[in-house]
Formats: sequence, C-alpha cells, structure tokens
Amino acid sequence: MKTILYISCSPRGAASHSRIIADELVDRLLSRHPGAEMIRRDLAANPPSFVDTAFSAAILGPQSAPPPALEESETLIRELESCDALVLATPMHNYGVPAVLKAWIDQIVRIHRSFRSTPEGKIGVLTDRPVHVVVASGGWFSGPSPTGTPPQPDFLTQYLRAVFATIGLRDIAFITLEGVTRGPDIAAKAYAAARQRIAEL
Ligand SMILES: Cc1cc2nc3c(=O)[nH]c(=O)nc-3n(C[C@H](O)[C@H](O)[C@H](O)COP(=O)(O)O)c2cc1C
Repeated sequence: MKTILYISCSPRGAASHSRIIADELVDRLLSRHPGAEMIRRDLAANPPSFVDTAFSAAILGPQSAPPPALEESETLIRELESCDALVLATPMHNYGVPAVLKAWIDQIVRIHRSFRSTPEGKIGVLTDRPVHVVVASGGWFSGPSPTGTPPQPDFLTQYLRAVFATIGLRDIAFITLEGVTRGPDIAAKAYAAARQRIAEL
C-alpha cells in the first residue's frame, strides 16, 4: 500500500470519537505499510464547495478539458484515484451524513468522470480499493439500545454503500461507535468493540 487518503468530517476536532478511532485505524495501517504516504483532508475545517449553477452546467458539457467550475471536483477525484485505501471518519448527523461529507460526495460522484450512465444503470469508473468508514453516533441505529429503545433510522451506512458503489468502490467496511453520548460506560464499550474490529483487520 503506497497511499492512504484519510478524510475526517467532524467539527469537534480532537474530541471527535470518529476521529479518535480513525486515527488508531490509520496508525495500524501505517504499522503494516511503513512508508505509506498519508493524504489528510479535514472536511469540517475546509468544507468542499456546494454544487452551484456553473457546476451543474459543466458536468453535462464536454469533459475533454474540464472547465474551471470542475477544478475542485477534479482535484478531489484525483486524490481519491491516487489512494490505495480510503479511511473516512464521520459522525451521524440527523440519521445521515454531515453536510460537509455530502458536499464532498457531490464533488466526487460525477457523471462522465467517476461513473457512466448506461442502459444497464450507472457504472463506476474507479478501480475498487478498501474503504474503511468509522461512524460515531450519539444513539443506536444498527439495533436497539441496551435498554431496548428501538433503533433510529439509518440513512448513513446504506447511503455510503450506494454512492461508493456508483463510482466503483464496493470493498466497504464499517466500524461503528454507537451510543457515545450516553455516558462513559457505554462509550467505553463502544470504543472496546471498535478497537477489537481494528485489531481483527
Ligand atoms: C447536528 C447533529 C445531529 C446529530 N444527529 C444525530 C443522529 O441523528 N443520531 C445520533 O445517534 N446522533 C446524532 N448526533 C450525535 C453525534 O452523532 C455524536 O455526538 C457523535 O459523537 C459525533 O461524532 P464525533 O464525535 O466524531 O464528532 C448529532 C449531533 C449533531 C451535532
């Protein structure tokens, strides 16, 4: 493995649960692949642009020489193409991905560039590679809480699977930290389970 792209999305800096565990995951990958180059992108500190009029028009135009409206998209897609593994650290916000991650997705999932639209459906253009997603959430979504509260809707994990598959990335593994705002004991259990997953990688 030569290059790891590490994308984080939490606005909570060093206190971010998803970032703390993703940092440990990255350390483990680096210990197994010493010398691998790390590309770090903090989407909370530097949010990608939102789709605007020029971008909407440009994605449908000729792609041979991408116009200025697609420059940022080109940069982000090339960054993704250059990595051998992607590590994504994200909170759950209102049952889904944070707005900054949605903005990144809208830049990288681009017709005629990272996927093609065919009569058989959308076909991804990127070569598959491992994608490790660390998700932190205040409550539970993969099943009921320890006290039996029903799980929340989850528009995050299935959504990420769908958008990554659209561009050709299907090797997705999730490490979830659920219930992290429900007290230190529950958070400790979530950390222990996440660290176990990392150890098993
Ligand atoms: C705007 C906002 C929306 C949130 N929505 C949810 C939610 O839908 N479900 C949930 O379980 N937790 C929700 N949370 C709690 C966060 O997922 C939780 O604090 C998590 O630890 C954030 O990840 P981080 O520690 O990596 O920043 C929300 C937090 C914020 C700030």
